[in-house]
Amino acid sequence: MSTRLRAIQSDITKLHVEAIVNAANSSLLGGGGVDGAIHRAAGPDLVHECRLLGGCKTGDAKVTKGYRLSAQYIIHTVGPVWRGGDSGEPALLSSCYRRCIELAEERAIASIAFPSISTGIYGYPIELAAEVAVQSVRDSLARDSSIQDVIFCCFSAQDLLHYERILNRPSA
Ligand code: AR6
Repeated sequence: MSTRLRAIQSDITKLHVEAIVNAANSSLLGGGGVDGAIHRAAGPDLVHECRLLGGCKTGDAKVTKGYRLSAQYIIHTVGPVWRGGDSGEPALLSSCYRRCIELAEERAIASIAFPSISTGIYGYPIELAAEVAVQSVRDSLARDSSIQDVIFCCFSAQDLLHYERILNRPSA
């Protein structure tokens, strides 16, 4: 069966999916933005599990339980800080999406929601980041992927327009 990709506007902590992705920092010990919202909603047990993970490199991802969230799993990934685009940012951002899809497939996860990684505090321009997000997810899904549903969860209506434009474009 083929995987469905769609974009919605929501608070990612409220979604009823099997896994949500967190746009974390390399300490994995919490922060602002979506990271702060996820830690608040999941509760204090999350940071206890995160402490055992030994951090995470930019472009990589690690999995925890979802604790008080409806989502069973949280996949924490660390996006690149935007430094103008010539410091490997597109490859690192693409790697975040690829690693999250790989980890989700290893756990036979059927539904996953991504926030717009790196486009808040880390300053990656949304129109560029959304292209990388959709392309990387499409390229990373295994032929026999367990994942049926991929949701790009946008916080703002403006961000949603960017994702919808890309997702509705006929793919090459
Ligand atoms: N649900 C969905 N999206 C959200 C939510 C939410 N509840 N809250 C914010 N966003 P950011 P980054 C959107 O800054 O740029 C943290 O301190 C937000 O509007 O959360 O990867 C970490 O610890 C934006 O579109 O993550 C790191 O230090 C997107 O989520 C650093 O920020 C990502 O914005 C990571 O920065």
